[in-house]
Amino acid sequence: MIVFNRPTSAPGALQKLESAMASGKLSGDGPSTQKASEMLSELHDGAKVLLTTSCTHALEMSALLLDLSPGDEVIVPSFTFVSTANAFVQAGATPVFVDIRSDTLNIDEAQVAAAVTERTRAIVPVHYAGVGCEMESLGATAQRHGLTVIEDNAHGLFARRNGRPLGTFGAMSTLSFHETKNISTGEGGALVINDEAFVERAEIIREKGTNRSRFFRGQVDKYTWVDIGSSYLPSELVAAMLVAQLEQAALTQQRRSALWWRYQQTLGDWAQEQRVVLPLQGAPEDGAYHMFQILLPNLAARTAFISHLREREVMSVFHYVPLHSSPMGAKVGRAPFGCPITDDISDRLARLPLFTDMTETEQQQVIDAIASFRVHG
Ligand SMILES: Cc1ncc(COP(=O)(O)O)c(C=O)c1O
Repeated sequence: MIVFNRPTSAPGALQKLESAMASGKLSGDGPSTQKASEMLSELHDGAKVLLTTSCTHALEMSALLLDLSPGDEVIVPSFTFVSTANAFVQAGATPVFVDIRSDTLNIDEAQVAAAVTERTRAIVPVHYAGVGCEMESLGATAQRHGLTVIEDNAHGLFARRNGRPLGTFGAMSTLSFHETKNISTGEGGALVINDEAFVERAEIIREKGTNRSRFFRGQVDKYTWVDIGSSYLPSELVAAMLVAQLEQAALTQQRRSALWWRYQQTLGDWAQEQRVVLPLQGAPEDGAYHMFQILLPNLAARTAFISHLREREVMSVFHYVPLHSSPMGAKVGRAPFGCPITDDISDRLARLPLFTDMTETEQQQVIDAIASFRVHG
């Protein structure tokens, strides 16, 4: 069976884990955390980076930093992972769901502008598959109304929009190192802070509401409880693995981009004949190469496609189920304009296997299975 994903492995990880274990310092914020944070900071034009236990937790931290009150609204796409909305609901806000653009599958910037009310506090764009959202337009809307932009960049590490790294546009952005991501520690994430005004409080929230980070920097002579917070920092073992993963990032991206472009080039004729849409991509050097998704003409074709591949020992999976019409989304949020494109895309999208150490033979098996699929009707 060609699985949908195999986590990226880093040959250097075992040795780094052994040294971390031998160091006697296993809890968070040791030397491996510092090293990984510096490496991520470099990828984000020098932003402050705080490692977290997941992207979900980084989103939760960003929500706490907004000091939301009941009735405050946060604009999110309906076509996203549950955490993009849940983090803000947990912090007391109402999620306002807007639709996506049919070309990039990213939040529709015109709808965002139209969805702003007096209660809006933030916009949370998701760079789907690592293709950048319309950040200039979203930034202008945010500036006009005094809103905070938080980029959910779970898919977009290494990707750029017009040459600028994703994750550096908003006041904050969040990363995921879940096992499905290009850089993987099993579970893991980071909060990237571009607006310095959030740094000090973010450190406190991440350390159980204490000023422990200031204490370790010698800025206060004892640490104490000063704010709300939780335990969002990963152990040194996770950080050591992250360093190993980041050290081989160039190779990871090179492999993934080769696989991605092979799909794009070899599936072109088949896609045109079968009325299938292949993913959009900007400049090759700007890509994240996180996933390869295709759009079948309708739900029946998508269902038939997934089972056709399964019969040929290839696993293809769909993706997000719309949040605005989910039981929780409908209960706590609202979708002022409906989300017809989200509903449609959610039914038609299928993701192909794409993982860092996929061999050409494995990929050929996927391509052959796809080439023999015909859309009926
Ligand atoms: C857009 C988006 N945001 C957030 C997450 C949550 O990431 P994590 O599993 O690291 O919490 C995911 C998960 O894949 C995601 O796709």
